[in-house]
Amino acid sequence: MKKITISHIEKLKAQGEKFSCLTAYDATFTEVISDAGVDMILVGDSLGNVIQGQETTVPVTLEDMEYHIACVANASPNCLILGDLPYMSYSTPEQAYETAAAVMQAGANMVKFEGGQWLYDTITGLTERGIPVCAHLGLTPQSVDALGGFKVQGRDDKTASKILTDAKALEKAGARMLVLECVPSDLAKLVTESLQIPVMGIGAGVDVDGQVLVLHDMLGISPFQAKFTRNFMADAKGSIQDAITLYHNEVKEQNFPADEHRFE
Ligand code: KIV
Repeated sequence: MKKITISHIEKLKAQGEKFSCLTAYDATFTEVISDAGVDMILVGDSLGNVIQGQETTVPVTLEDMEYHIACVANASPNCLILGDLPYMSYSTPEQAYETAAAVMQAGANMVKFEGGQWLYDTITGLTERGIPVCAHLGLTPQSVDALGGFKVQGRDDKTASKILTDAKALEKAGARMLVLECVPSDLAKLVTESLQIPVMGIGAGVDVDGQVLVLHDMLGISPFQAKFTRNFMADAKGSIQDAITLYHNEVKEQNFPADEHRFE
């Protein structure tokens, strides 16, 4: 199997084929995910929740990200490795260049960070410097305190229109991919159809280009099961490898997410 690149993911969008992504934070799970044929691995700052036991992603540091990205990259997966930039590590373009360089040198193939149009110059600058960027809109967990909790975003006309405007601006700035988290499925569909770049959803319905889930959620070992996740481990009768393969196949065949996982 060849290493998956951003060009491959772009080709899948052009062909109307879905792609799959899971979070991972260590070498062992990375090998299982890669063997299952999953297209992308996100070393997310969700490691603050599922690895460190923190309530939010705010305490996660750049050192934490570098360590876990290196653990994943050391397993040499075929999957494209996407690495999160942690809280307040990309407040200015210059700070973002340094943080992104550290994340890429740890082994990521692409960086992801949260926010709207204020990131325009940062994304353009990183793109000009040869670093592919994935933007992240909707529920942005690093802003949980400003958002007033982990809530579905874009439910009214004003916030929906802001998400669409932000998405178009971030694509124009040079973003190569967009994550949409916890937004109504109709809005996710509209954003996906309005952009050329691949859109990856979590809690965004089936009409996006790809899906991402937190590994511990889809294995059913997180303490709380959100509406938008599915316990694939239960369906795979307790085999981790089968659960991850099932997830990949269900995403490709558009059986996941189902109606019960989407927001209105
Ligand atoms: O950190 C993470 O795992 C994420 C996903 C929830 C998209 O950003």
